[in-house]
Amino acid sequence: MSSVVVVGAQWGDEAKGKVVDLLAQQADVVVRYAGGSNAGHTVMVDDVVLKLHLTPSGILNPHTYCIISSGVVVDPSVLCTEIEELHQQQISTAKLVISGNAHVVLPYHRELDRLEEERKGTGKIGTTMQGVGPAYADKARRCGIRMGELVDRKVLRKRIDAVLADKNFLIEKLYGGQPLDGDVIFEEYAAYGDTLRPFVNDAGRIVSQAAQDGKRIIFEGAQGTMLDIDYGTYPFVTSSHPVAGGACLGTGVGPHALGVILGVAKSYTTRVGAGAFPTEQENRLGELIRERGQEYGTTTGRARRVGWLDMVALRYAVRVNGMDALALTLLDVLSTVPDLKVCVAYRCNGQRLTELPADPEVFEQVEPEYEEFAGWDQEISDIRDFDALPANAQRYVRRVEELCGVPIAIVSIGKRRSETLIRRPELIGLA
Ligand code: IMO
Ligand code: MG
Repeated sequence: MSSVVVVGAQWGDEAKGKVVDLLAQQADVVVRYAGGSNAGHTVMVDDVVLKLHLTPSGILNPHTYCIISSGVVVDPSVLCTEIEELHQQQISTAKLVISGNAHVVLPYHRELDRLEEERKGTGKIGTTMQGVGPAYADKARRCGIRMGELVDRKVLRKRIDAVLADKNFLIEKLYGGQPLDGDVIFEEYAAYGDTLRPFVNDAGRIVSQAAQDGKRIIFEGAQGTMLDIDYGTYPFVTSSHPVAGGACLGTGVGPHALGVILGVAKSYTTRVGAGAFPTEQENRLGELIRERGQEYGTTTGRARRVGWLDMVALRYAVRVNGMDALALTLLDVLSTVPDLKVCVAYRCNGQRLTELPADPEVFEQVEPEYEEFAGWDQEISDIRDFDALPANAQRYVRRVEELCGVPIAIVSIGKRRSETLIRRPELIGLA
């Protein structure tokens, strides 16, 4: 059975976690390939609700290896809390593996994330304040501390001492903040290292071996295409590679191992943090969708910005990910919303644009051109067959499929695993 990359096709929060959990039921390995605890992935089975930030969303499937790859930055305080919570809910972590090469998020990364944002003032990115950007920056600057070093007390002590002087210099002299105490950091983080030691392994080898043995691997993305540091709306992006290509870089397999590229997009759009958002609805309609969709950040609790589905951005995501199929999620949220719109093109300076403009300044200025749809009155979460959906809901999905040019394999109509319509199982290896 083919492997699948589950990639966010918008600005994050597309319900990737739900899709990964679903596919993980028939997978051997789930490997998270990018991001850190800035991600918030909700998985719901019956009445068990899991809110995960670092643990792969396959963890509810006891036979599936769940791997945190070297492309991820790991905040050990967050991961240790997650592991404890999983154990409290009797969920096994016996098959959890953490790459020894994954970089560690330390307290100075969080502090610098906060201070940098503060200093930017009105130009701030609106980060999740999880220290993710500064941790990736240290990786690129070649002064990061990795999981393999965290779990070795002697090495950790040396590494913290080597790095902290520079960090404190920045914190104090550039930002006017309070320096951090190396002894305190060491005591806390060495203890996390003790807890996490049994999980640390050569993740790259495990994933490659699984690929070679023809096992089914689910590559779990975090964030979304439009937040990619190279292909997103820079500088209002995250510091890693959410796009499908990031799955190779993050896990250490070649492109042929990836299999099917499955994009995940909401039936509308949300964005958290700053940056252009052409279809944004800062009005009662936006509020209605926010309330129906409970659009508040899993990691920060911030109200998400809400807007109509943007097909220009989605077609761009189809292109940069080489997307084979799409999962369209949260369709149930649009039930009872009277008139629906989908952005099919942009207008700028009298021109009609059907491709995402490469120039961020143009993207700031575009006006959406909409196609309108009649909505549907009834709630749809109990429906179990695509053909039983209200005619207008079917029409909406079919038109989105036509506009984005890839088949919609999954339609999600609720948070629960059971509230999912699998239209094209053969495309995602479920046939
Ligand atoms: P999941 O995996 C939505 C956004 C932040 C901010 C920008 C940079 O749940 O889809 P960062 O903390 O990464 O430096 O913030 O990226 N952001 C997300 N938005 N979902 C996410 O993850 C996000 N992770 C980061 O709001 O605009
Ligand atoms: Mg999220």
